[in-house]
Amino acid sequence: MHNLQIMGTGRWVPEQQLTNEDLSSIVDTTDEWITSRTGIRTRHISTWENTSDLASKAAQMALQQANIQMEEVDLIIVATMTPDSSMPSTACLVQKQLQAKNAVCFDVSAACSGFVYAMTIAKQFLQTGFYKTAVVIGAEVLSKVIDWQDRNTCVLFGDGAGAVVLQHSQDLGVEACYLGSDGQGDDLLECKGVALQNPLKPCTQTESLRRPSMTMKGREVFQFALQIVPACIQQLLDQSGYTIEQIDHIVLHQANIRILEGVAKKMKVPKEKFYSNMEYYGNTSAASIPIALDEMREQNLLKKGDKVILVGFGGGLTWGAILLTW
Ligand code: COA
Repeated sequence: MHNLQIMGTGRWVPEQQLTNEDLSSIVDTTDEWITSRTGIRTRHISTWENTSDLASKAAQMALQQANIQMEEVDLIIVATMTPDSSMPSTACLVQKQLQAKNAVCFDVSAACSGFVYAMTIAKQFLQTGFYKTAVVIGAEVLSKVIDWQDRNTCVLFGDGAGAVVLQHSQDLGVEACYLGSDGQGDDLLECKGVALQNPLKPCTQTESLRRPSMTMKGREVFQFALQIVPACIQQLLDQSGYTIEQIDHIVLHQANIRILEGVAKKMKVPKEKFYSNMEYYGNTSAASIPIALDEMREQNLLKKGDKVILVGFGGGLTWGAILLTW
């Protein structure tokens, strides 16, 4: 079995920003409400780039940083719930933009856990030696599926992409993975983004006009996150034999500062161990963890040998976590 290591990271967000103040002129909300309930102050919103554009730029940055040529890439996986189209996959569109002609490409749909799912899939291909170099991307243009009249959801999300390059390595790298799903919670976070009915089946005019958008049962999702995140971390500690004290950084999916604080309190872990950047991006679903990793690398927060835990959770319901040595 091969070890695999993150060789490079990259991120790309659209230029346009939408602040809480801006949102208060669209829906009945305030900067104070959004900041105190979520920790979010601003987010990036795409005006012209689609998911594959953001994904390609993030991947390009990660490959440059890793000093790896396009021809070396064997596998491109894009985790997204907002693909450019049902077909072709966003990953194939990324391949086209990058001209990574030797890569096998596909998308993964696991909402905000998507990046952790995609990393875990890439690990299976790499550790067996089936492939050597993978680009794993989390990318979203959530603004496409947001109901801008719904203050319960429109204040939470943002657009962006993050990517990592994984390759065989002598170092420990990605050590342990854990995934879970519970379809019983399907209605807690939903986006009926594809036609759900046979087109020949009659539907009302309202149904046919309704643009697919995201809906959420906020309080239930909050409780789910508070319960599942500590369970994910504990799973990895049990698998690996490490104690929580040996973990240097915990990178949660960046949904809400109160989830992060709740988990830190519940697990009696200092808040400083948890990286947080949702203030500037909002919840970017599958993109949030790789965007955070890229920022941490850029800020020299990640030292060689540091133990890092990544935790994703979201619609499906889905959840997952990865333990790696930087
Ligand atoms: N601005 C102002 N008021 C708002 C608002 C907004 N943007 N959104 C909701 N409210 C109102 C509600 O209508 C409600 O009013 P009411 O009491 O008159 O009915 C009140 O604020 C409280 O709503 P509630 O839903 O109980 O708030 P909350 O404290 O649970 O916070 C969330 C709402 C969404 C911030 C919180 O539930 C949450 O963070 N959930 C998890 C969301 C998440 O992370 N999802 C993605 C996971 S991947």
